[in-house]
Amino acid sequence: MVKRYRIQFPVAESSKLGQDEAYFFLWEGKKKRKIRFHDYDDIYKIPGLYEQLFYDRLKCQSPKKVAEILESSVAQSNQNFSELRVLDLGAGNGMMGDELKRYGVSRLVGTDIIREAELATERDRPSVYDAYYTEDFTKLKPSVREEIASWSLDCLTTVAALGFGDIPPEAFIQAFNIIQSEGWVAFNIKETFLAKSDTSGFSNMMRELIFSEYLDLYHLERYRHRLSIDGRPLYYFAIAGRKTADIPKKFLKQFGY
Ligand SMILES: C[S@@+](CC[C@H](N)C(=O)[O-])C[C@H]1O[C@@H](n2cnc3c(N)ncnc32)[C@H](O)[C@@H]1O
Repeated sequence: MVKRYRIQFPVAESSKLGQDEAYFFLWEGKKKRKIRFHDYDDIYKIPGLYEQLFYDRLKCQSPKKVAEILESSVAQSNQNFSELRVLDLGAGNGMMGDELKRYGVSRLVGTDIIREAELATERDRPSVYDAYYTEDFTKLKPSVREEIASWSLDCLTTVAALGFGDIPPEAFIQAFNIIQSEGWVAFNIKETFLAKSDTSGFSNMMRELIFSEYLDLYHLERYRHRLSIDGRPLYYFAIAGRKTADIPKKFLKQFGY
């Protein structure tokens, strides 16, 4: 049986907190411990806590949505979904891997920057990934890059991991360039990052990339990613497309990276 935890949200001040500042209290006996949503290492160490927090309480539906639009995009081509060789960047404890496995893919390689994610995946979803790399994609050693590329990956997924200080553009582009040309790319991003009013380098870059010559866009859909701690819907875009070419360094440079 899955263990349940006592989780409490700081309701009074929650509407003032940015999405990257959100936290909750975990009751352990008579003590409560404050954990930030971004303290993934602490969360993954506790079996089932990530799932209870983001999926049961906050109704996250992003792995399901991104897998769904990837499937419908691939269905528009003459390729079989079951033949995909996927790199799941920011894989965490394997929620997206689980979803992709439900559809069935040929190979699934996970990667995350923290070791706790790999350990939690081994503990909770040991058969989901064919390989899992704990790596910082902004500093990939050539030998590791070569090893990952040797999986002949033709699909990149990144779910709930772009923006808010998580995966930086340099890491995403490195992963994008590892997958083969004409490979599939599916990810999600908070709606505000695609708004013209956001003039940060990250937003400008993501907007440019989605409609660039490096990607054939197949699917762009606004949907409810999850609820905030005070129960408001958080909207994201789910994006799927087909890579046309590697992204050169000069593309990133124009956005200040
Ligand atoms: C909200 S979790 C999403 C996990 C999983 N994709 C899911 O949908 O449940 C974000 C993940 O991105 C990872 N992450 C943050 N920065 C990263 C980076 N620079 N490179 C790779 N992974 C990163 C975190 O460690 C965390 O596991």
